[in-house]
Amino acid sequence: MPRTSTIRRVLVITLAPATVAILMAPALLFADAANDQVFLAKVWPIIDKNCTGCHGADKQKGKLRLDSRDGWIKGGEDGPIVVEGAPEKSDVILAIKYMAKDDDHNMPPKKKTRLTADQVDMLSQWIKAGLPWPDKK
Ligand code: HEC
Repeated sequence: MPRTSTIRRVLVITLAPATVAILMAPALLFADAANDQVFLAKVWPIIDKNCTGCHGADKQKGKLRLDSRDGWIKGGEDGPIVVEGAPEKSDVILAIKYMAKDDDHNMPPKKKTRLTADQVDMLSQWIKAGLPWPDKK
């Protein structure tokens, strides 16, 4: 086996995962050690600004708290709101897309405060990633 081809093979083996990671970057937004940073920088601000005023320490509308991972997993008076890893099966995603079966469940309730498509997408990706939530926020 000529020496150059061995070197080439080593290079391919070493560099391939990095290349794949770069190509798949959007899908891998949460799939590495930067999870906590992504949550803190992109996900928590959306929740904190748009949801915790009614679903936080002071008020728990619909018996729902969204200021902890436990709250998201536990859900509200109608039961679970998320299926971990499956945003398409998660009622909360229908709610923020304004596609809830019952109009009272479209969130936030005031239409003019609706989330943007990008914000909905960010929360979907977060649920798909299994709702990573660092200890401190
Ligand atoms: C202005 C207050 C307000 C804000 C802001 C708000 N909600 Fe709600 N939310 C409510 C009320 C009131 C209910 C109960 C509705 C009902 O049962 O008819 C509710 C219920 C829900 C439910 C259903 C809980 C259950 O089990 O019945 C979900 C899911 C939900 N909200 C998610 C969110 C999310 C996500 C946000 C932020 C994007 C948000 N809400 C922002 C007032 C609010």
